[in-house]
Amino acid sequence: MRIDKFLADMTPYSRNDIKKLIRKGAVAADGQIIKSGSQQVEEDSEVTLFDEPVVYRRYEYYLMYKPAGYLCANYDSRDPVVFELLDSFRRDLSCVGRLDKDAEGALLITNDGMLNHQLLTASHHVDKKYYVEFTGELPADAAEVLARGIVFKEFTSLPAQLEVIDEHSAFLTICEGRFHQVKRMFAHLGCEVSYLRRDEFASLTLDGLECGEYRMLEEEEVARLKQLGEAE
Ligand code: URA
Repeated sequence: MRIDKFLADMTPYSRNDIKKLIRKGAVAADGQIIKSGSQQVEEDSEVTLFDEPVVYRRYEYYLMYKPAGYLCANYDSRDPVVFELLDSFRRDLSCVGRLDKDAEGALLITNDGMLNHQLLTASHHVDKKYYVEFTGELPADAAEVLARGIVFKEFTSLPAQLEVIDEHSAFLTICEGRFHQVKRMFAHLGCEVSYLRRDEFASLTLDGLECGEYRMLEEEEVARLKQLGEAE
């Protein structure tokens, strides 16, 4: 790939900045000073910027504990977006599915477009477990209704598992990710969701993360997600 793309992906500098840095002689690859932004390097080339090594990562995979108040969008003129919490210079990251602005919890973020697509389309392999607080009274047959599937205007929900915690809280595990799905399922039961947190996404949990924090996925976790994606 071109050295200017290598550096634009892995540093905060724009291609224009990089051109200037190259002119100053600040960039080297495998011991040779780089003269032009179009010079080709390998992903594993030993690139340095002001003598500091810059390592290339083609794909990045993050698990974030999304806080309420943040949008799953790349940019918004009014509200903060989840990418503001992420310390990555890549401009090609996207969320795998969405959580509502008022929802919290496990959110996968990657620039691996293939995996993102596979995880969304292979939806019935990807369980998502939500912790839900609600107002109203759950009907006695709520678990059966959710397990049978609910007919909505544009889809019928696949079997979902309800575990009631107490009168006003429960876990719900679903495998699709339709717009406002959990809220709509509870509304169908005559209840209103007052707090929503996704505790698990494809078995990835929030363990070890505080709200607003994120971590990079381990290689085995990425491999397992790829298997799920390919299982479709
Ligand atoms: N279901 C919802 O209603 N909202 C979310 O953010 C995720 C699932």
